[in-house]
Formats: sequence, C-alpha cells, structure tokens
Amino acid sequence: MTLVRLDNVYKSFQRAGGPVVNAVNGVSFEISPGETVALIGESGSGKSTIARLALRLYELDAGTVYFDGRDLTTLSRDELRHLRADMTIVFQEPYESLNPRQRIGRTVEEPLVIHEQKLTAAERHGRVVDALNHVALGENFYERYPHEISGGQQQRVGIARALVTRPKFIVLDEPTSSLDLSVRAQILQLLADLQDEFNLAYLFISHDIHTVEYVSDRICVMYLGQIVEVGPTAEVFANPQHPYTQALLSSSLSADPRVKKERFLLGGEIPSATNLPPGCFLHGRCPSGDDACAAAHVPLHAYTATHAVACIKVPWHADAEPAS
Ligand SMILES: Nc1ncnc2c1ncn2[C@@H]1O[C@H](COP(=O)(O)OP(=O)(O)OP(=O)(O)O)[C@@H](O)[C@H]1O
Ligand SMILES: [Mg+2]
Repeated sequence: MTLVRLDNVYKSFQRAGGPVVNAVNGVSFEISPGETVALIGESGSGKSTIARLALRLYELDAGTVYFDGRDLTTLSRDELRHLRADMTIVFQEPYESLNPRQRIGRTVEEPLVIHEQKLTAAERHGRVVDALNHVALGENFYERYPHEISGGQQQRVGIARALVTRPKFIVLDEPTSSLDLSVRAQILQLLADLQDEFNLAYLFISHDIHTVEYVSDRICVMYLGQIVEVGPTAEVFANPQHPYTQALLSSSLSADPRVKKERFLLGGEIPSATNLPPGCFLHGRCPSGDDACAAAHVPLHAYTATHAVACIKVPWHADAEPAS
C-alpha cells in the first residue's frame, strides 16, 4: 500500500531577471505507511524542493503527487486545507521555525486553528498537551517562550507542532543537522518511537549518510534534481551501483577508524542547475562516462526487484518491470 507517491515531478524557479534554475527534473518515488524514505544528496540537489512538492506547498511544473490515493494537484483549496492535517513538516532550524514572541503552547496549537476548525478551544488545549507529552516536554512548557529552552527542546516543539494534527506523513527536512551529537541521538530515538506508535510515514532529508543509514528503510540518492539510485537502504549501502552513490559512500569517513575504505571521488565541479548537461547529468565527472552517456538520458531502471539505478552501464534486471 502506498501513502505518498510522486510521479515524474518537475519544478524550476526563475528569479526576476535571472536564469531558470531546474531544481527538480522528473522525480518519482513512493512512501508506504510506517516507512522512512530518505533523500540524500549534496546541497542544491533539490531535496527541500521535493519535500515542499510532496506536501504541495509548491505548485508543480509537471507531474503528479498523490496522497492516500488522491491527486493533490487537482484538489480545491478547501480540500487541501483539510488534508494538511494529515501531512506535516519539521524544519532544520528549530529556532527559526518558531515565532519568538509566541508562547510554545500557542505555536503548537496553530495548525489545529488553521486545519481543524471544528475543534473547541478545550479540545485544542487537550491536543496540545497531549502532543507536548508525546515529545517528552510536558504541560509546563505550554507558557514558555522559544528563547527560554534549549535547541533540542525547540526541536521537540517543532515535532509536537507537526504531530498535533495527528498526521500520517511527516517530512523531516534535516531535522537534526543543527543539533549537538548527543541531542541528535535523542531526537532520532524520539522520531523512531513516534513512528512506531502512530505508524507514521517519514520523508527524511539529510546529507549525512550515517544518519540516513541508521534511520531509513529505503533511500533515494539525488543528483541535480534527479534520483540516480533508489532501493532498500541496506542493499544500496552494501552494493551501490551508480557511480555517484559509490562516490558519495566512499567520500564519507567511516565511523570506525580501523576501517580503511578505498576512496573514490568524482572529478570536476557539479554542473549548474541553470545549465544542465545533455545525457546523464554526471557524465562529465564520471570515471566511466563516455559518448553513450553524453548522448542519452537514462531513466531509473530496475537492477534488482527492489533496487533501481539511472546508469546506462548498470544491467537491467531480467524479470523486473522497469521502475518508473
Ligand atoms: N524559492 C526558490 N527560488 C529560486 N531558486 C530556488 C528556490 N528554492 C530552491 N532554489 C534552487 O533550487 C535548487 C535546489 O534547491 P533545494 O533547496 O531544493 O536544495 P537542497 O538539496 O535542499 O539543498 P540543501 O542541502 O542546501 O538544503 C538550488 O539550485 C536552489 O538554489
Ligand atoms: Mg534543503
């Protein structure tokens, strides 16, 4: 069963007088209830843009986003407003995402005021206290202000705010990147516990492959607004097929200093999203890139029944249907 599905989604931006930035270039993937799918890729590879497209916080240029079987691109404003209770987001910078002049209780309550207008004030209060309890803050944080609490507690407020509407799907856009290591582990554990309790689906965005390896069931590796490899996290880590994934994994330091990895790094600079190369976007930097790679764009295709790769050199899986 699929909860969230992106189908061949495109998004570009144009700043006044500037060139067009091709941020997302034909992305498809799905997330099941209770599943964590990670998006990993360098800065500017389009991760946050995809997050916003998945929630339809941005209009799509092309493609479709389905949530719970409904095409989000065709819903009316009112229908979308109701559905927003089911799909929420936690941002990277907890302090910046909180209103400094607003008490925490009010901040957590806000999504209910907007998306669940039938609730009474007493019901909203109950839901806020429940959410604060679930993130291990408790009711005595209700009257406090963001500057009075720690970074980890601020991120717990961000999670309580995402949780208060009882969603099925939460986008976590680098939720622990700004936190200290010890706090990071606690927040990841909290997110895992909440996922178990509420069967939450997560889209987990990160550029830290160790975090991704730890938290995700499946992983999508992004390069210049495209997914170049997708599959179960353990399978992709054990047997990466796309040269970009191989470079990404080999460039990271092992958590165990005794492990010596063969380092494989890409040459050259990442091309600009305003001027995408023809063919495979990686071909100019890839050690096995050749004329065939420059000539044709290769879509994601099945490598095993569950693992797909967008590289012309990687064999097509004999029995599997090509992944979309
Ligand atoms: N609102 C916008 N207006 C113009 N360009 C944008 C906008 N949002 C994103 N971009 C551009 O789109 C591309 C993808 O950006 P995005 O923020 O999705 O990347 P990201 O993978 O989340 O990066 P990071 O790891 O730094 O958060 C970048 O080139 C970025 O400059
Ligand atoms: Mg981002």
